[in-house]
Amino acid sequence: MEDPAMSLLDPHGRRINYLRLSVTDRCNLRCSYCRPPGGDGGPAVGEILSDEDLLFLARTAVGIGIEKIRITGGEPLLRKGIVPLLSRFGEIPALKKLVLTTNGFLLREMAGDLRRAGVESLNISLDSLVPDRFARVTGGGRLRAVLEGIEKAQEYAFPHIKINVVVMRGVNEDEVVRFASLTLDRPLTVRFIEHMPLTGKDCGPGLTVPGEEILCKIREISRLTPRDKEDLGGPARYFRMEGAVGEIGIITPVSCHFCGDCNRIRVTSEGIAKGCLFSTRDVDLKPILAKGDAEGLRNTLRSVVGKKPSGHLFLREGRHGESVHMSRIGG
Ligand code: GTP
Ligand code: 5AD
Ligand code: SF4
Repeated sequence: MEDPAMSLLDPHGRRINYLRLSVTDRCNLRCSYCRPPGGDGGPAVGEILSDEDLLFLARTAVGIGIEKIRITGGEPLLRKGIVPLLSRFGEIPALKKLVLTTNGFLLREMAGDLRRAGVESLNISLDSLVPDRFARVTGGGRLRAVLEGIEKAQEYAFPHIKINVVVMRGVNEDEVVRFASLTLDRPLTVRFIEHMPLTGKDCGPGLTVPGEEILCKIREISRLTPRDKEDLGGPARYFRMEGAVGEIGIITPVSCHFCGDCNRIRVTSEGIAKGCLFSTRDVDLKPILAKGDAEGLRNTLRSVVGKKPSGHLFLREGRHGESVHMSRIGG
């Protein structure tokens, strides 16, 4: 029997068991869709949560029903001392899954350390397999570094390695089949994400390629068999191409809301708790963390869950979210 005190249910009947925790807003890339133009005036280093605050937060969240923590950024591997911090997360007894989303740039050097620290799976952003194009989309990133990072991660046998491809009209939509074909002989999951028009520069729906259109391109070369959703998984739907070793996935925040199945809350690198990626009812956890007030923190996290909206109309309403800073929220 499940202990109801250990279960976080929101007012819409959704069970919240997944915390996305951004550990830095710094990044070594400048993806066109992520940062507002002109920089985002990020916080001074002193303003991001300390290791002790993050651990206290994680332990408290796990104590009331969080079972999976995804570490995000910015680029989380840039945080000083990230490996020992991850090891300490990995030691939280009731935490079932510790996972991480990265741009892959530092993976070649760090994959082994991450595996040893207890990170179970990696989501790696990769929007192009063409070096010049990759450099353009990421503001100067080197494709080879990320590809070598992915290879290293495979050598260390992470149970899941997912490649995140944000598909953009006129930018990389012609690479969908090439990306999907990587799964034919590699035990990878390649996930195609609809571009969310969040920043001033990329506002407007012009770059978004609907998920159905992406799937159609792949169906031109292969039948797709639906796969079960992952345990404690996020919003992706999964398929397997004929004869493929790996899987493909599709994430459709724009064309098809997945809010009805939402299982997560977020905390930004500055300690702001968010019930939804697009929520405006944010709560600053820093004063509570500073007091080390476990009961206050439990109550506050429960209230964030209690105010979780049933869904967002954000993208459909055509408002493009000056307030959504992916590099602080971590996607
Ligand atoms: P897993 O299922 O554990 O692999 O997690 P995930 O797919 O949620 O994690 P990841 O960090 O790889 O995010 C993939 C994409 O999904 C990113 O573009 C995120 O911004 C987007 N995403 C994740 N959660 C949400 C959400 O609650 N709402 C919206 N709109 N997008 C989300
Ligand atoms: N639309 C869709 N996905 C985005 N990401 C960042 N910004 C956007 C956006 N505007 C993705 C990154 C990364 C994940 C954390 O979020 O590609 O894989
Ligand atoms: Fe950095 Fe990720 Fe934003 Fe790209 S999407 S700039 S890799 S935080």
